[in-house]
Amino acid sequence: MKEDFDEILERFVPYKERKEKGEEDKKTFGDVFDRRTLLAFYKLLKRSIDIVEFPISSGKEAVVFRALGKDGNYLAVKTYVITRLNYKGLSKFIDGDDRFANVHKTKDNIVFIWARKEYRNLKTFHQNGVRVPKPVDMWKNIIVMEYVGNESRPAPLMKDVMENLKKDIIFEIIAEMKKMVNAGLIHGDLSEYNILIWNEKPWIIDVGQAVPDTHPLAMQLLARDVRNIVNLGKKMNVHLKNEEVLKELGVI
Ligand SMILES: Nc1ncnc2c1ncn2[C@@H]1O[C@H](COP(=O)(O)OP(=O)(O)OP(=O)(O)O)[C@@H](O)[C@H]1O
Ligand SMILES: [Mg+2]
Repeated sequence: MKEDFDEILERFVPYKERKEKGEEDKKTFGDVFDRRTLLAFYKLLKRSIDIVEFPISSGKEAVVFRALGKDGNYLAVKTYVITRLNYKGLSKFIDGDDRFANVHKTKDNIVFIWARKEYRNLKTFHQNGVRVPKPVDMWKNIIVMEYVGNESRPAPLMKDVMENLKKDIIFEIIAEMKKMVNAGLIHGDLSEYNILIWNEKPWIIDVGQAVPDTHPLAMQLLARDVRNIVNLGKKMNVHLKNEEVLKELGVI
């Protein structure tokens, strides 16, 4: 098992590099590559991932890697860093979600519930035609999905390409919001920080916090998403009122 484990993890390039360097960069990677996460990667490297190439993004709670799938396509692999998750912050999006009503939640397993929730949300959105990365696989704290971008670069975040965008993009985002509402889920963290732009189209990402429209926080979150889009519109010289957007979404 030990040899098998090492051999498979040779295909996890950031880990391999770290090992070769004698774990010098432990500060950067130490908490990402804890034993449980490596074991989870082990499973996925047998199943859906061929090679984990490099991190695309390393944020507060998650590291996203570019990877190659067994079928030769690029993948994005979102890995929640077990030690970085904030129990209180996440609980309020899980409590009140009927889909997880019977799941026992503890400080230790909340990260796994969160990843499952994100994967499930991604699936529901994808099945309802929302332009989100297609979910591919998941295990423990790791989500495998379609990679948006090309060989040389991942798709940029909307906030970084605002000046090159046509005004239409606002209406395209509202069209995605409408599909999300029709899917019965409220995104809850929609902004130029969670929208990728590729071939002039918006891709909605980071759907972990999305809640069913029956959730006690649903309307509050929807109102915030709408405010964010109205403000985003202003920045692009598209002047909309909250009520107009809510009407377009079919909620009033
Ligand atoms: N499918 C994807 N294809 C290409 N890039 C992606 C994909 N998913 C995520 N990314 C990149 O990774 C970044 C972080 O992803 P995401 O927004 O889902 O995580 P996050 O929860 O905001 O992470 P954190 O809060 O830790 O920063 C994105 O801003 C984007 O640059
Ligand atoms: Mg994000």
